[in-house]
Amino acid sequence: MIPDNEAIPAAADRYTLPQRGLHWITAITVVGLFAVGLWMTDLDYYDPWYHKAPFWHKSVGLLLATLVAVRLALRFVQGHPLPLNSHRQWEKILATLTHIALYLLLFGAFASGYLISTADNRPAPFFDLFEVPALFTAFEHQEDIAGEIHEICVWGLVILAGLHALAALKHHFIDRDTTLRRML
Ligand code: HEM
Repeated sequence: MIPDNEAIPAAADRYTLPQRGLHWITAITVVGLFAVGLWMTDLDYYDPWYHKAPFWHKSVGLLLATLVAVRLALRFVQGHPLPLNSHRQWEKILATLTHIALYLLLFGAFASGYLISTADNRPAPFFDLFEVPALFTAFEHQEDIAGEIHEICVWGLVILAGLHALAALKHHFIDRDTTLRRML
């Protein structure tokens, strides 16, 4: 019989280097986009950042969407480490549900962000390189409704990621297991 740890290629004992790199790039970028998002929506029309900040927010958001798609693809291709045997069953289930929710909230934030930016057939900028066209008008009052969904997704993401980080720190400092180290 094949032991559990051989079931998936990368399941040895830690995430692969690209997976670890993309995890931390995602974490830092999500916090940065969240902070910039809060700040830019409060800017005065005459502020020099009034147009520049959304340009960077959209460009970095689209770049992150691409990186998260790559990360998810790597998860399928390279696999991922199995939960530690020392974790209780409910912890394993909760961790899996949290990871799924984090991915869903990330994609919810990307999709709603795209729909806000491309309402009224406006394209979304990807730095100064090219523009992502508005492919369709999804629904009436798109900008407002997508804006509400975006806000819910990003707040949910930041709160859940905070709890997820606390759980990782608890495993590291209290349980003293390898949960965090295999992501470093
Ligand atoms: C916005 C911030 C974050 C997001 C969106 C995020 C997302 C995720 C996701 C989706 C996974 C599942 C593994 C995968 O598919 O790649 C994961 C794993 C992990 N994350 Fe995060 N994370 C964030 C921040 C953090 C922080 C701040 C820490 C530590 C303090 C952390 C520690 C870990 C650890 C240790 C794992 C591996 C868990 C395991 O092996 O069961 N994450 N993260």
